[in-house]
Amino acid sequence: MRYFKRYMVTSALPYANGPLHIGHLAGAYLSADIFVRYLRMMGKDVAFICGSDEHGAAITIKALKENVSPQEVVDQYHALFEKTFQEMGISFDIYHRTSSELHHQTSQEFFNNLYQKGEFIEKESEQYYDPKAQQFLADRYITGTCPKCSNPAAYGDQCEKCGSSLSPTDLINPKSTLSGEKPVLKTTKHWYLPLDNYESWLKKWIETGDLDGKHLHDPEDWKNHVLGQCKSWLEGGLQPRAMTRDLEWGVDVPHHIPGHEGKKLYVWMDAPIGYISATKQWAKDKGKNWKKYWQDDDTSLIHFIGKDNIVFHCLIFPAILKAHGGYILPVNVPANQFMNLEGNKISTSRNWAVWVHEYLSEMPGKQDELRYVLIKNMPEQKDSEFTWKGYQDAVNNELVNNLANFVNRVVVLTHKYYQGKIPKFDEDQDIIGVEGDLESSFHEAEILRLFDQMDEWCSYIKNYDFRGALKILMDISSQGNQILQFNEPWKTFKEDPEKVKTVMNLAAQYVYVIGVLCRPFMPFTSDKIARLLNVSFEKEDKLLLNLMNKMSEGKLPLKSGHVISQPEHIFSRIEDVAIQAQIDKLSKSLQAQQTQDASAGQSLTPIKSSISYEDFSKLDLRTGTIVSAEKIEKSDKLLKLTVDIGVEIRTVVSGIAQQFDAQNIIGKKVVLLANLAPRTMRGVTSEGMILMAEGTDQKLSFVYAEDANSNGSTIQ
Ligand code: 2FM
Ligand code: ZN
Repeated sequence: MRYFKRYMVTSALPYANGPLHIGHLAGAYLSADIFVRYLRMMGKDVAFICGSDEHGAAITIKALKENVSPQEVVDQYHALFEKTFQEMGISFDIYHRTSSELHHQTSQEFFNNLYQKGEFIEKESEQYYDPKAQQFLADRYITGTCPKCSNPAAYGDQCEKCGSSLSPTDLINPKSTLSGEKPVLKTTKHWYLPLDNYESWLKKWIETGDLDGKHLHDPEDWKNHVLGQCKSWLEGGLQPRAMTRDLEWGVDVPHHIPGHEGKKLYVWMDAPIGYISATKQWAKDKGKNWKKYWQDDDTSLIHFIGKDNIVFHCLIFPAILKAHGGYILPVNVPANQFMNLEGNKISTSRNWAVWVHEYLSEMPGKQDELRYVLIKNMPEQKDSEFTWKGYQDAVNNELVNNLANFVNRVVVLTHKYYQGKIPKFDEDQDIIGVEGDLESSFHEAEILRLFDQMDEWCSYIKNYDFRGALKILMDISSQGNQILQFNEPWKTFKEDPEKVKTVMNLAAQYVYVIGVLCRPFMPFTSDKIARLLNVSFEKEDKLLLNLMNKMSEGKLPLKSGHVISQPEHIFSRIEDVAIQAQIDKLSKSLQAQQTQDASAGQSLTPIKSSISYEDFSKLDLRTGTIVSAEKIEKSDKLLKLTVDIGVEIRTVVSGIAQQFDAQNIIGKKVVLLANLAPRTMRGVTSEGMILMAEGTDQKLSFVYAEDANSNGSTIQ
């Protein structure tokens, strides 16, 4: 990756319709925060932009459910997001919102620009309409049965159970969430962006990085799964996409445009423009020129997002920017995949999540522990997994036993031996190095090794491989521990005090480097280390650049004689009770969900997929009468029935004993599936199956042919 003059880094604007969970953090916020803090530490000019996505049907649905206005919903979540991000140390330069006046204006100008240039096509189409609510229905307002997995609560745009992308007309038994009624198709007019016209342009830009005689990015710098998704969309062929919706909440189509009444901008048109409006606000507040960050080729635009947003950031938004003209395109879109929780997909509706604001109040002061575990398991290339046990192990074994232990030992020993003053570094002392080898262990070699590792750390970050960079940090800490372990200052302090001085000086330099390198991952820990060392890392600008420059000149960051602060633990062990409490909390959500699912089971079962008449005609269904019935011993479910079906008398085993007493069903008219292969249960061979209807309450009733007056009639 080459360096640019300035950077515009964005994190996906979260929908302000529910709290943030760990999947959000791991997906688009921690990654961006690491990258941005790194850039600042290297002295780069960077703007880190985010805000709440306050439009779209998800918001209005929430408002409807809670019987409040959409504005109240977004106000509530916007405030919560701002607080949560700030408490988690996500260092946005601005956290803006799309319900702001400036955003409405900016996105209307965009829309108008495209409209005036004739970039849109106007098209009529049939869309679902709720006659009772007298409204067109956004995809999210329609629920029904998923044609792929039969989930009865799939949305018009997506089934959250099987993850399929759907369109409202795919749903079986569609229902409007506004009125509960079946929606009807009605004609409506919208403005479409003909994405098909941008197909070859997008393909060239993504696959080669070349455009209009300029080389904009190297495709090999993009993650494979991102390129893969783009290619598969492109191969499937792009279709014109409506940029407006019939909605009441959102950005109005500019009022001078004929036919604007009742039309709002499509949320995926307005949301990414939110990055631009947020930048305008930031520039206004800070006296900067926003255009430099969006319209200058010397700026690198990078979008951090989750994989479900790839198509919008790699294809649709670039097409919108191109249609407008004058804007730069993203140099990279390092999307992350999904993080699962304890073996299952995180689900807001099923409350299967670790909510960040709850974590913050239940595990106070443990922001960096969560950041560490989420980064360690970041779904950079594939879906990953968060478990509470994994969290506990990582904190206790890595942060406490390795990092905190090392830092603490250095601070404690420096106080014990030198009253907190960094001892002198003597170049002529041979200390045992990381490899445990005296030969190659001169201090220069040790400092050089550290410098190389810092360089490697930078390469990982530049490559968006944050897990790799985190691993280097922890390796450096292990090496610090090894240096103490091999040289055993506590044993050699008396016999070789000069050597111990050099060992302890080197160890303190390691702590300094760790304090700087951990900053992008664990900013609170970085501050704690700075306090311990009696230095400050808070001004991030050029922090790493200066350190590396210094070290490359053979200088060390901490001078001998520098006085450090009193010891203080930077991490403490996570006890089993805390973890158990979190696991219990998740089990409660699971139980609540199971109860809800069971009662949802009371809704009607969806229609199965169709069969041919030939399939049906294979069934030999006969009318019959139960002539005798008795309970089968040692079974509380099974009855042994004798059924007269005219042509024969059959013995049938039926699992209905919990609902019917044997003596009460003798003489009942029934329908029997007569050609079902015989099956032996509890020693009795069943020669057919009685048909039963099962109600929504799981109650069974006999199926019979009302007017059939003889046994043996066939049913066809
Ligand atoms: O998926 C989401 O949560 C969207 N609100 C992301 C929007 S990103 C951008 F385009 F604003
Ligand atoms: Zn499904």
